[in-house]
Amino acid sequence: MNSKPKVAIFASGSGSNFQVITDAASAGELHADIVAVVTDKPQAFVVERAKTAGVAVVALRPSDFASKVDYEEAILQELKQLEVEWLVLAGYMRLIGDTLLTAYANRIVNIHPSLLPSFPGKDAIGQALAHGVKVTGVTVHYVDAGMDTGPILSQQAVEVVEGNREQTEHRIHAVEHELYTKTLQQLWMPTASASQGRLNKKL
Ligand code: GAR
Repeated sequence: MNSKPKVAIFASGSGSNFQVITDAASAGELHADIVAVVTDKPQAFVVERAKTAGVAVVALRPSDFASKVDYEEAILQELKQLEVEWLVLAGYMRLIGDTLLTAYANRIVNIHPSLLPSFPGKDAIGQALAHGVKVTGVTVHYVDAGMDTGPILSQQAVEVVEGNREQTEHRIHAVEHELYTKTLQQLWMPTASASQGRLNKKL
């Protein structure tokens, strides 16, 4: 049986996706070992969730570093110590730079609350509501140097609740929680090594 990939989850906020992914891994429903949370916001609620789950926390403020390269080098040292193999972005509100992109080529995944390429960047749900679209959704994709531009792994549509941000957000989160775990499981499950090879070849 293949060994479980060691994973760090990057998050800047509440961490509901972190929670669902970590719970799935603990329950044996996701073939992964969640070994760290990396956050740029030491006060974020995801830190509390990580502590409760017994997951290591790497909390570094970008403003404490002279450059983005220095910031990511510091993260990279921690990831190496923990022997992290994959990075999973779940509400991490920063562009990944060259340092981490090079160290984890084709091993970084992100979730975004829209049907990319529509509404990339910040506040995708607000953008969808402002445009008056009837359907938005969720995308899981590999991360490249662009803003939400990497190769798409999975997508699911979500109907907008017109003029109601809270309910639309609620629907999106519910879909995210299911889709992210399912997509990661397809990526990592031992029997999927052949298809993972195929995915990587396409990149
Ligand atoms: C999620 O909706 C995720 O798609 C979004 O942040 C939220 C984090 O929620 N990410 C982005 O907008 C990235 N561009 P969570 O902290 O409860 O997991």
